[in-house]
Amino acid sequence: MKWTAPRIKACKGVEKIACLTAGDYATARLLDEAGLPLILVGDSLANTLLGYETTLPVTMEQMLHHTAAVARGVRQALVVADMPFMSYQVSDEQALANAGRFLKEAGADAVKLEGGRLREACIRRLVGNGIPVMGHIGLTPQSVRALGGYKVQGRLPAEAEALVADAEALEAAGVFAIVLECVPRELAARITAAVSVPTIGIGAGVACDGQVLVTSDMLGIDSAVSPSFVKRYAQLGEAMKAAFSAYRDDVMAGQFPEPTGHSGSNG
Ligand code: KIV
Repeated sequence: MKWTAPRIKACKGVEKIACLTAGDYATARLLDEAGLPLILVGDSLANTLLGYETTLPVTMEQMLHHTAAVARGVRQALVVADMPFMSYQVSDEQALANAGRFLKEAGADAVKLEGGRLREACIRRLVGNGIPVMGHIGLTPQSVRALGGYKVQGRLPAEAEALVADAEALEAAGVFAIVLECVPRELAARITAAVSVPTIGIGAGVACDGQVLVTSDMLGIDSAVSPSFVKRYAQLGEAMKAAFSAYRDDVMAGQFPEPTGHSGSNG
């Protein structure tokens, strides 16, 4: 059965929600076949797939392109597209038009955007027009320049109070879930208890209603990238490099293709 935004919302207090990111058809298909209910086309693909240092440069056209590839690989999971930097900040009209493109042109089921109380009116506008929205507070990477780096948020009492107010504002605006990124676990537990929609944590402790990781991090694709909260479920970077080297060695040694083996239709 296809996952929907109301179905994800109804998981709160019933079952934990596992979410991973995807930016391509093959990964999305594997995640869907593995039974992940929620797939995020995160703008972190700016870093992991496109090689940018931050998420700021990724464009609407790039996010639409990757979201469409993911949507083609998915049958059951809910596909959430991240709205890129400056695709929703300029005006609520701009946000509505761009969010609509993700559903209309790319086959997304929902969108995610960063920010708390500041985004309340914008989110109401999207939700009121039939677009499910996921919130994202705590460390919001699109604000990295203002935050001065990728740091834990909400450590000071005033910051913690502000994040609780942000979560409540997002709930009131109608989001179906809220990503909590890099906040202390006690604060994540408090926010999780304060709102009726699921919290999806990343670097926010176990009390959240669900968890999200960047897929290339949990697969160990890039050994140089390792946020402390990431659990490595595989070491694919090393495995891929070993396979590439073995192939190069075989070709150079004349051991691939095998002289007596199959030749292709052109061979
Ligand atoms: O872009 C992304 O991958 C995200 C997750 C880290 C939540 O926003």
